[in-house]
Amino acid sequence: MIKRRSRWSGANALARYICLALTMFLAGCGALETPVLHKASPVIEDRAEQATDPQPTAPPTATPLPPTATLTPEPTETPTSLPTATPEPTATPLLSPIDRMVAVRNPERGAALFTVFQEAAGTGYSCSNCHLADSEKANLGPGLLNIKDRALTRVEGQSAAEYIYQSIINPMAYLVEGFDAELMPQNWSEIYTDLEIFDIVAYLLTLEGESDIDAPDPIEADEEGAAEQG
Ligand code: HEC
Repeated sequence: MIKRRSRWSGANALARYICLALTMFLAGCGALETPVLHKASPVIEDRAEQATDPQPTAPPTATPLPPTATLTPEPTETPTSLPTATPEPTATPLLSPIDRMVAVRNPERGAALFTVFQEAAGTGYSCSNCHLADSEKANLGPGLLNIKDRALTRVEGQSAAEYIYQSIINPMAYLVEGFDAELMPQNWSEIYTDLEIFDIVAYLLTLEGESDIDAPDPIEADEEGAAEQG
């Protein structure tokens, strides 16, 4: 019996030793501890999640709204930045309707109309009866060579096209010094349509060349004299 017991106890001790060694080995590997912890931690995490779930989910849904609010400003910023590209349109308003009309009209047609005799114009005239197109020298009216440049000096704020258009439809609006104020027919807007007058303006804007007069128009001489004195 003793022998058997000792034999069993010996086997037991060996088995225990092996078990202990195995346990320690497994424990060392973490194979035993981790499963135990894993089993415990999920429960804790679950409970924690269940407990904390309502709170986290509420803030998230609350926070998404601010983001969408901060996102919408950006879209509204881009629209406003696109309109800021519209400053180009705000730059175009500098071109008046007359400027824009004249820019697309036909100078060749204007040149032809410039020489057409019109019985209804005053006592019967063509533009070319009174105006030289290839000279700055005066005829009955001022020479119109380089009128594009002189036109800019006539009425402050008026473009060349605006001034020339005005000069044709309402010659009294600005009187070139040294000329007969009432000589130019006043009824061109009854003889020619606006589009035809725009053609003529487009033509007059093309009259460029070397100046052929020593003394410029009287008014320019006055201005230069004033500038020299001042
Ligand atoms: C009977 C002569 C006469 C006829 C015809 C006439 N003009 Fe004139 N024009 C004048 C006189 C004079 C002036 C200068 C006095 C003034 O400003 O009204 C003038 C001024 C002008 C001016 C301003 C010139 C400047 O230096 O500022 C323009 C532009 C002009 N005429 C264009 C025309 C056109 C275009 C026609 C034809 C549709 C025309 N004129 C027909 C006599 C005439």
